[in-house]
Amino acid sequence: MNKRSSFSGKLGFVLAAAGSAVGLGNIWRFPYLAAQYGGGTFLLIYLILAVTFGFSLMIAEVAIGRKTGLSAIGAFKALDSRFGFLGVLAALVPIIIFPYYSVIGGWVVKYFTVFLTGGAHAAAGDDYFTGFVGGTFEPLGWFLIFLGVTAVIVLLGVEKGIEKVSKFMMPVLVVLAVGISIYCLMMDGAMEGLAYYVQPHMADVSVKTVLSAMGQLFYSMSLAMGIMVTYGSYMRKDTNLESSVRQIEIFDTAIAFLAGLMIIPAVFVFSGGDPKMLQSGPSLMFVILPKVFDTMHFGNAVGAAFFLLVIFAALTSSISLMETIVSIFQDKFHWRRRNTCIFVAVLALVMGIPSSLGFGTLSFITWAGMTILDIMDFVSNSVMMPIVAFFTCVFVGFFVKPKTIADEVKVTDGRFVGEKLFTVMIKWITPVFLVLILLSSVANAMG
Ligand code: PHE
Repeated sequence: MNKRSSFSGKLGFVLAAAGSAVGLGNIWRFPYLAAQYGGGTFLLIYLILAVTFGFSLMIAEVAIGRKTGLSAIGAFKALDSRFGFLGVLAALVPIIIFPYYSVIGGWVVKYFTVFLTGGAHAAAGDDYFTGFVGGTFEPLGWFLIFLGVTAVIVLLGVEKGIEKVSKFMMPVLVVLAVGISIYCLMMDGAMEGLAYYVQPHMADVSVKTVLSAMGQLFYSMSLAMGIMVTYGSYMRKDTNLESSVRQIEIFDTAIAFLAGLMIIPAVFVFSGGDPKMLQSGPSLMFVILPKVFDTMHFGNAVGAAFFLLVIFAALTSSISLMETIVSIFQDKFHWRRRNTCIFVAVLALVMGIPSSLGFGTLSFITWAGMTILDIMDFVSNSVMMPIVAFFTCVFVGFFVKPKTIADEVKVTDGRFVGEKLFTVMIKWITPVFLVLILLSSVANAMG
C-alpha cells in the first residue's frame, strides 16, 4: 500500500483548498451574477448563505475525507456500504468539469498574451472573442498549453507540486486583485458604480436571486464533487478542521468580492451606467472588459495583470480537479501515479476537444440553445452538483450521523464551535434548498 501523501501543515492545506475554491467562478461568474441580480442584494444573500450552507457542507466533506483517508469513491463507501453510488456520482463531476474548464483556461492564457503584447485595442473589437473561439486550431492549442501545465504540476505531487504552486500563486493573486481594484476604483465616476455594486435594494430580493446565489456558492467553494473530500484525505489530524474551513470560506468570498470591485465599477463608468452592458452575463469578462481596458490609461498593463491573475486562479482550480481525478483512479485501480497522470491528461484532452470545437466546427451541435461547453457546464453544475450535495446531506444527516462528523472535527482540540448550526443545516435546511435549486435549474433550461 502506498503511503498517502499529505500537506505539510495548516497553511499548505488552506492555501491549496483556497486555490481550488478561488477560480473562474470567483472572477468571471460572481461579478456577472452580482451585476445581474441587483448588486448589494446578491452580495448580502451570498454572505448569509456562505456562513450557513457553505460552512456546513464544506465541514462535512473535509471531515469525510480526513476520517477515511480516501478520495470520494472509497470514502462514502467506507462509511456506509450502501452509499458507494454517491462516491461514483461525485467522482463523475470533476471528470466532466476538468476538460471544459481547461478549454476556458486556455482562452484566459490567450488573452493574457494578447494584452502582454499590446493588443488591447484589437481585443476590444466587437467580434474579436467570437472570432477567436470560433477558430479550430488556435483555441485547441491554448487548451493544450493550459492542460499541459496543469498536468506537470499534478505530476510533481501534493507537497512538491500543488502545495508549492499554491503558496506562490495565491499571495500573488491577492496582491494583483487588491492593486487592480484600487486602480479601477480611482477612475472618474467609479464611486457610483461602487454604490451600484454594494447597496442592497430590497426590491431585488426574489427566489431566483437566492437560488442563483446558492448555485454560485457551491460552484465557487468547489463543493459536491469530491474535491474537498480528496483534499481532506491529505489533511493531518493536528490541523484544525473548523478554523481551516472558515479561512477557506473567507478567502474565497473575499476574492469574489474583489473581483466585483475590479469589474463592476469599471464597466459602470465605461457604459455610463447602462444596465444592458452591466448585465451582459457570461461575456462580461471576455467581451466587455477588454473594451474597458482599451479605454484606460495603461490598459495593456492592467489587462495583462488582470488576465495573469485569472490564469493563477484558474490553474489552482484545474490542479484540484485533476488531482481529484488522479486520486480516484489511483485509489480504485492502484496504478502508479505517473501513469495515472498521463492517462487522466489524455482523457481530458480527448473529452475537451468537442467543447473547444463547439463554437466553430461543431457549432451545429446544440441543446436548448446551449453549445457543447455550456451543456457540460449545465449537466455538471446545475444537475449533478445539487444531486450529489443533496445525497451528501442525507448521508451525513441520517446515516453516518452528524455526530460522527463532529467527532472528526473535534479530533484536534476537542472543540467544534458551529456544531449546532452544522447539525440543523445538514439535516434539514440544506437538503430542502438543494431540491429547489435542482428544480429551478432544470425548469430554466427547459425554458
Ligand atoms: N471553485 C472553482 C471556481 O470558483 C471552480 C471549480 C469548480 C473548481 C469545480 C474546481 C472544480 O472557479
